[in-house]
Amino acid sequence: MPNTNHNLLFKAIILALCVISFVHVFLFPLYDINAGRGTVRTYMDFEQSLCTNNIKKRRIWRLGRCPQYGIVTVMQGGRLGNQMWEYASVWALARRTGLEPYVPRCIRIKLDQIFEQLSVPMFDEIGQCQVEISNFVKSLEAWNYTNQSIILQKYSFQHELVLTWVQDIVQEFTIKRKLVEKSQQILHIAIKSSTAKNHTFVGVHVRRTDYIGYLMWKYNAKPADMRFYMSAMNFFERKYRNVVFIVVSDDPVWCWKKFGIKKNIYVTSKHHKNSPALDLAILASCNHSIYDYGTFGQWGAILAGGDTIFHKISHNTSGNFSPMLKNWHTI
Ligand SMILES: *[C@@H]1O[C@H](CO)[C@@H](O)[C@H](O)[C@H]1NC(C)=O
Ligand SMILES: *[C@@H]1O[C@H](CO)[C@@H](O)[C@H](O)[C@H]1NC(C)=O
Ligand SMILES: *[C@@H]1O[C@H](CO)[C@@H](O)[C@H](O)[C@H]1NC(C)=O
Ligand SMILES: *[C@@H]1O[C@H](CO)[C@@H](O)[C@H](O)[C@H]1NC(C)=O
Ligand SMILES: *[C@@H]1O[C@H](CO)[C@@H](O)[C@H](O)[C@H]1NC(C)=O
Repeated sequence: MPNTNHNLLFKAIILALCVISFVHVFLFPLYDINAGRGTVRTYMDFEQSLCTNNIKKRRIWRLGRCPQYGIVTVMQGGRLGNQMWEYASVWALARRTGLEPYVPRCIRIKLDQIFEQLSVPMFDEIGQCQVEISNFVKSLEAWNYTNQSIILQKYSFQHELVLTWVQDIVQEFTIKRKLVEKSQQILHIAIKSSTAKNHTFVGVHVRRTDYIGYLMWKYNAKPADMRFYMSAMNFFERKYRNVVFIVVSDDPVWCWKKFGIKKNIYVTSKHHKNSPALDLAILASCNHSIYDYGTFGQWGAILAGGDTIFHKISHNTSGNFSPMLKNWHTI
């Protein structure tokens, strides 16, 4: 008899723990909204729950119409490259489903500093409308009718869908003119000692610092070695004339040490660090691309729109775009 009681108590505790972890893992931060009185609140509160940092609530929210069917949105996570994928995923899913796209203010503000004219709105216009949290699903696969909304998780990466419309996403991410001009100046500095006329610029993104630990943890993989960068560079030197490599990195000192001997390599931000926005603009201004791994290098190459050589971390990583982009190759 006491045994059964113990068993019951044990099962109850396990069940309680399961429920608690389920709620935290799967429903957070929606959980915050549900914790209030009732489950329905406005999109203004909802937007806050999508951001990693507190965003300022706007005092005046324009009274607009409310979404008739569902919406598609995303939670914020990661840095610039991740947030570009989060934005692009919402953009592409809306196109695929016909749902209204919205991105939280925290993502839009970050991207508005770099891009000319983004089309996916923030929640301003529907801020006063009620959210029906129970209508939200978390993926396209789970979505089955237009009254459901989709909330994508942070680090969302709908690359197959996004790259279906690659020309359009490149257009969507049109870089501000000031940044483009600045990046063109940097390309000019890179060739100032060259007498050739028609240069081919190859942007090289070298991701190091924290990513080295991440590679080990996630893929049990070592960082790309010099053989990768050198054979990628050889590829371009065989294919084009007057090639100049423009290196952008989170560790320019390492790059300078490793690549400094090569004549046609220019390491940017050797003396002072560029902003991520300018680094992206530099990569996008180049004609072709080399990158090792990471979302930032991916976007640099997508926006440059030329031939791309990237490093293959392992056989089944999600970053292989070569089936969708035919001038992308891995070595
Ligand atoms: C849509 O999915 C929900 C579960 O998320 C299910 O209850 C409902 O029956 C489905 N509707 C249709 C039309 O398939
Ligand atoms: C979907 O929403 C529209 C507009 O609010 C409503 O007319 C319709 O009945 C809803 N359909 C379902 C299946 O809930
Ligand atoms: C400049 O180089 C590009 C790429 O190598 C080539 O397509 C183009 O025809 C060249 N233009 C001139 C004027 O030589
Ligand atoms: C290569 O990039 C440079 C710098 O952005 C640009 O001026 C040039 O027109 C590009 N060349 C080709 C062939 O696209
Ligand atoms: C790759 O595949 C292996 C074995 O099939 C698996 O253990 C690993 O988790 C996979 N990695 C990724 C990133 O999917």
